[in-house]
Amino acid sequence: MAAHIGIIGAGQVGAAAAYLLSATPGIGDIVLVDLDEARAAGEAADIGHAAAFGSAARVQHGTYEDLEGAQVVVITAGASLKPGQTRLELLGQNIRIVGHIIESVLKVAPDTILLFATNPVDVMPAIAVRHFGIAPGRAIGTGCALDSIRFRDRLARYLEVAPSSVHASVLGEHGDSEVLHWSSAQIGGLPIIDFAQQIGRPIDAAMKAQIAEDVRTAAYRIKEGKGVSNFGIGGCIARLVRALALAENSVFSVSTYLPELLGVAETCISLPHVLGRGGASKPLLPPLDNVETEALKNSAEVLAGTIKAGMK
Ligand code: 2OP
Repeated sequence: MAAHIGIIGAGQVGAAAAYLLSATPGIGDIVLVDLDEARAAGEAADIGHAAAFGSAARVQHGTYEDLEGAQVVVITAGASLKPGQTRLELLGQNIRIVGHIIESVLKVAPDTILLFATNPVDVMPAIAVRHFGIAPGRAIGTGCALDSIRFRDRLARYLEVAPSSVHASVLGEHGDSEVLHWSSAQIGGLPIIDFAQQIGRPIDAAMKAQIAEDVRTAAYRIKEGKGVSNFGIGGCIARLVRALALAENSVFSVSTYLPELLGVAETCISLPHVLGRGGASKPLLPPLDNVETEALKNSAEVLAGTIKAGMK
């Protein structure tokens, strides 16, 4: 049976996600819900026309009632990052909006999987678990799935290989304290540093720092250039929804609620998870070197503090 997907928020992120999802085989219908119904109707019609050229996905606008039976509901609504702002600074504005949305979705689709793209994206799953009693595997933040593709793309461009051949992840916060997992990065079964050395494009400490900075600040640079960051996250949402709704059991670095990690209580950070029909598996802790362990602990602490502030 083709998947039924809801998207809350028909802004630039919701529209980009709907557009990319509409071209994804196996997606049956997509419902866009927004307080601004005219906007949702306009986006649904426009995206539906693009979809009609290729796939059979039906794109429509609707209300919360239309989310009944949805396998996945994506939450993109809320204030977005302004130049000079960090994602964590959006907490106060977005937490109430997201709380109201979760309540409305659960009334009609109590068993759905919630996929959060509203920032601070790592904190929202914790709110869903702690305030609404949702199982941790069914409240997922897009988290570092986007940072991971930015990392892979940055490495792929430098090393002149396809991003699909680069196996590399970003862990921790989707934000300033994120951790590039260099010690596990590989291409063709070779540790990335060896691969780079052998093709004559070495990755020294300065290059590592440059790549880390480029990945960490990607969204800030996109915002400065065009005012909004929407297609990267739209592609990320579409890919994660596909994994969940089509029961792929694919592995991504996404965020879920953790009662404890590395001695830090009540946090919510990105680690590898298997994404399939029931949602996200338990988070998996990969081998880390000492520097990465400390950095991940710091990221877990940053987010534990933000969650505490959000719970007040
Ligand atoms: C991004 O990283 C703003 O979180 C969004 O593009």
